[in-house]
Amino acid sequence: MLAIIGGSGLSGLANLEVTHRQVVRTPYGEPSGPLTFGRIGGKPIAFLARHGYGHTIPPHEVNYCANLWALKEQKVSGVVSIASVGAIRREFGPGSLVLPDQIIDYTWGRRSTFFEGPGAKVTHIDFTEPFSASLRARILAAARTGGEAVADGGVYAATQGPRLETAAEINRLERDGACLVGMTAMPEAALARELGLEYATLAVVANHAAGRGDSAHSISLDKIEVVLENAMRKVRRIIENLVAQ
Ligand code: HPA
Repeated sequence: MLAIIGGSGLSGLANLEVTHRQVVRTPYGEPSGPLTFGRIGGKPIAFLARHGYGHTIPPHEVNYCANLWALKEQKVSGVVSIASVGAIRREFGPGSLVLPDQIIDYTWGRRSTFFEGPGAKVTHIDFTEPFSASLRARILAAARTGGEAVADGGVYAATQGPRLETAAEINRLERDGACLVGMTAMPEAALARELGLEYATLAVVANHAAGRGDSAHSISLDKIEVVLENAMRKVRRIIENLVAQ
């Protein structure tokens, strides 16, 4: 069974027939909320709102360890993260969907491994390819089936937030090779890998990043909400086709 972690703009799946909700406690504390289980088109799926069902948890305070541990404990096989991002590259306009294939981590002060603390064995994971190739392929196929355009590949820069970036910071991220900027893919992707969960991020472009396009002088937060609402309709259709595979 796949799990969806919904980000900003996706705190629920309208097309999900809920069968039950499960409060899960973990050695790492509380997940962002109860896990929601249900069916889409008769196929089972789990859902968790990353920022809480009332959108109360900012990116730097999400308990990523608890979220992934809880999903693993409920025997999900893979996690599709839906994450809103700013577009650094001009060709990704607001509302576009991108399936990144790489990450650069600029976050700090977040618990980013299960392998620490008393008694933990020193453990390194391979993270050359941070996203699951097979899950990415499945998402691309689901998008094709529904006729939704999803750009294949790109470097996701994970920033600390919760503030948005300065224009100079975005220039630096671009020089580093990033084309998208968001606040949640790390440590989420690394923790999923540590638990052996397949993981991929479907990024939803909410805005041009700071200093780019119509964000040349400021980012309009009001516009973001409308963009995300429209884009999430496409995301829900892709999820529907993904679970139907
Ligand atoms: N920067 C970082 N995270 C984001 C942005 C952004 O411009 N837009 C949506 N999430």
